[in-house]
Amino acid sequence: MTNPADAPLSSDAIRVKLKTRTIGATLAVREDVDSTNRLLAEMARADAPDGLVVVADSQTAGRGRLGRPWVSPRGMNIYTSVLLRHPAVEGITWIPLLAAVAVARSVQLRAGLSVKIKWPNDVLVIRDGQGRKLAGILVEAVGSDPGKRAVIAGIGINVNMPVEAFPEDLRAGATSILIETGCLIPRIGLFTAMLEELERLYDQFCKNGVDELARSYRDLSDTLGKKVGVELAGGQRMEGRAEDLAPDGALLLSTGQGKIVEIRAGDVVHLR
Ligand code: BTN
Repeated sequence: MTNPADAPLSSDAIRVKLKTRTIGATLAVREDVDSTNRLLAEMARADAPDGLVVVADSQTAGRGRLGRPWVSPRGMNIYTSVLLRHPAVEGITWIPLLAAVAVARSVQLRAGLSVKIKWPNDVLVIRDGQGRKLAGILVEAVGSDPGKRAVIAGIGINVNMPVEAFPEDLRAGATSILIETGCLIPRIGLFTAMLEELERLYDQFCKNGVDELARSYRDLSDTLGKKVGVELAGGQRMEGRAEDLAPDGALLLSTGQGKIVEIRAGDVVHLR
């Protein structure tokens, strides 16, 4: 299903709306791509400029976190990747959290939908006490040469996707703006609002450091203060209370007897 009210993604239509300085100043729009993250990494290795954005109408091999696929049907959603040639290595760990705040704010602004963030960067709609995933973010590093190190923030937002377009096994845990609000919304307006929010947060973060971003993230967090289970990359599982964020954005998990574990990568499940 395509939305007749929704303009096709085109450079011209995006440029007319986009009010950013760096992010999206160079823009590559594709009808089909395997993965916007993969294409952007290739362009980054060929010296693409800071702020380059790739956006596609569909992906044939969309990549999710922890090696999972990202379902990417044509004409319904936003699939985009942003190149950030971040100057300071120590700030890079905050990029996934920063991108999640940008997505959350733009969805709230453009769709009037209240959302929360599951650590580190899943954007959820909470309905009947259950979190359903509306958007996902995959941040990948490119380049080993310190002078040319960069990150790619890959962002997928389920916008006008009806329930039938999700594989059956995802239907209980995933959602879209259409499913939550009953309304089809123009993707370009949401996309440009998200890039504007991303640039605002990123500029502020580069200039003033992490404090304000951390405050905004905490306000949107659905994880902090909750009892959670965490699947670590090697298959190990831990349980505890999500206490706070570490200075680098890691999750501080108290596992009992005063022990605090710092989680840097893993899949969080909120426990009741
Ligand atoms: C997740 O698993 O939550 C992360 C999903 C990230 C999906 C986006 S869609 C655009 C970009 N290109 C990719 O291949 N993946 C990211």
